[in-house]
Amino acid sequence: MTISPYGAMRSHGAGTLGAADVGTEVRLAGWVDTRRDHGGVLFVDLRDRTGVVQLVLDPAAAATAAELGHRLRDEWVVRIVGTVRARPDGMRNPRIPTGDVEIAVAGLEVLSEARTPPFPVADDVEVGEELRLHHRYVDLRRPRMARNLALRARALSVIRRVMERHGFLEVETPQLTRATPEGARDFLVPSRVRPRETYALPQSPQLFKQLLMVAGVERYFQIARCFRDEDSRADRQPEFTQLDVELSFGDEADVQDLMEELHVELLADCLGVDVPRPFPRLTYAEAMRRFGTDKPDLRYGLELADLSEVLAGTGAAVLAGALADGGSVVALAVPADAGTLSRKDLDGWAEWARARGAGGLAWGVVEAGEGATTLRSPLAKFLTAEEVAGIVATCGAGVGDTVLMAAGPTAPTRELMGALRVALAEALDLVPDGEWRFLWVVEPPMFDPATDRAGRPTGGWTPNHHPFTSPAPDWIDRFEEDPGTATARGYDLVLNGIELGSGSIRIHDAEVQRRVFRFLGIGDAEAEEKFGFLLRGLAHGVPPHGGIATGLDRTIMLLAGEDTIRDVIAFPKTQSGACPLTDAPAPYDAAALAELGLRLAPEQG
Ligand code: AMO
Repeated sequence: MTISPYGAMRSHGAGTLGAADVGTEVRLAGWVDTRRDHGGVLFVDLRDRTGVVQLVLDPAAAATAAELGHRLRDEWVVRIVGTVRARPDGMRNPRIPTGDVEIAVAGLEVLSEARTPPFPVADDVEVGEELRLHHRYVDLRRPRMARNLALRARALSVIRRVMERHGFLEVETPQLTRATPEGARDFLVPSRVRPRETYALPQSPQLFKQLLMVAGVERYFQIARCFRDEDSRADRQPEFTQLDVELSFGDEADVQDLMEELHVELLADCLGVDVPRPFPRLTYAEAMRRFGTDKPDLRYGLELADLSEVLAGTGAAVLAGALADGGSVVALAVPADAGTLSRKDLDGWAEWARARGAGGLAWGVVEAGEGATTLRSPLAKFLTAEEVAGIVATCGAGVGDTVLMAAGPTAPTRELMGALRVALAEALDLVPDGEWRFLWVVEPPMFDPATDRAGRPTGGWTPNHHPFTSPAPDWIDRFEEDPGTATARGYDLVLNGIELGSGSIRIHDAEVQRRVFRFLGIGDAEAEEKFGFLLRGLAHGVPPHGGIATGLDRTIMLLAGEDTIRDVIAFPKTQSGACPLTDAPAPYDAAALAELGLRLAPEQG
């Protein structure tokens, strides 16, 4: 028996009909997209998942159907029987795939009436996000949203195909579990049967996938739902999906090659785009030096240059002060052909930098002087000819280019200039469309200086990735000696300036794992209490292993050309973590809370 792709009520999908179907009797069903009354003859666009087709209800041909047709309103659900016919000359619509035909309706039935839609079911209308999410079932009817859902399903199917091709086993790990430290806060789940205890929702399946390696699964993957109680942003949701991967008896190259093959196939299959392999690799240190970020966007230039050496003895006090304090002068050159920056623009960017905590931005325009290039700049009178030549050469600047410089402590100044690079590229329209620039950022630091909630350094250290990441081989015995320099066997996958995924080769020696915990201030007792199950596992025969997790929502956002992951998640939360559809989260019944052994603290004034 064949299973109809359209359901028993229908013979065809509305959007599938064309000239080849002329003369066919069809049974269709879907939503009333639009109606037009042309002096008694009614034209209705009928929409279903496959697209739109024009129905013609003519009182002269089918009086009852036409009469009922006049009652139809947008978004009612109807079914019809009719015959496909060619549209008359001059009435064809080349903008839709079914534009050569229309359906002469013989019978019409209303399956469901609908309230006036809260907003038109069309892509080209601006609708507030609250309203869109409140009526998400209507919003998802919009062609763009429907396309995004289909794209997501397709990407998932490509992922499963590639992972299965390479022998990876799909394993589900628990959602009611213990905290996994991935740097965010946990969502907690109390339980009636275990009063005064709580489960945590997983921030990632990290520890379970490592234990699956101990279990001998060797190659694991999961389309894993993860939960992190952190502020939402365009590319962050409290609940999101990872492609989570782990493999045994391999190294960095195994994980990276697999991910490259997967992403190349995703782009080819979903978008018909060819991306070259291998993806370039940049060390973390180089990425920070050249781009001021660990997720550089390689679609445009504006690379950073370090002028600290060139300006080592400078008389320009604003720059010299930072250098004397052990900081750096970091610059970038805006090419003349990217557009000139007016004095007002430059003041605007200096203000932009000050708003981000910098002292300001120095600028200079490269000019052709007699014999040598000169710099037209408020700083010019403080700079020697050699310094100017050094600035121009180090920045790779040409005549007409504008050099922008910031001075201060090295790391924040690089980050500031990295952010300026991104902002300038957008403002000057230097980001090309249709380019897919993947890269690996490798050799990350093992630790970053820890900060408190206000961002002040505490003097301690925090893992750059997570505490299960292996130190690089030459640091394994001595990462404690120079934690600021020690590197780890980690790697990040970056696409067009967005971190798609992060992974590492893991620590598979329980003693090294304990040393990392101790170094992070997690004593043996606490490690036992929190991670005893991992440490026990590591004592039972563990293969060397490593893996990665990529943010699927982000991948699909980029494939779909959307600016936020909310547009590729069926039922996302707003920026403030709410679901306007269900009104979650919501106050909970006091009796039910009591049963859980919970009482809400009074609101803090
Ligand atoms: P990490 O914490 O870097 O690594 O997460 C991996 C990827 O998940 C995505 N991601 C998110 N996407 C949407 N909303 C969020 N709140 C969010 N947080 C993270 C990002 C990120 O790169 N267990 C490790 C991976 C491993 O080592 O194998 C982990 O979770 O795209």
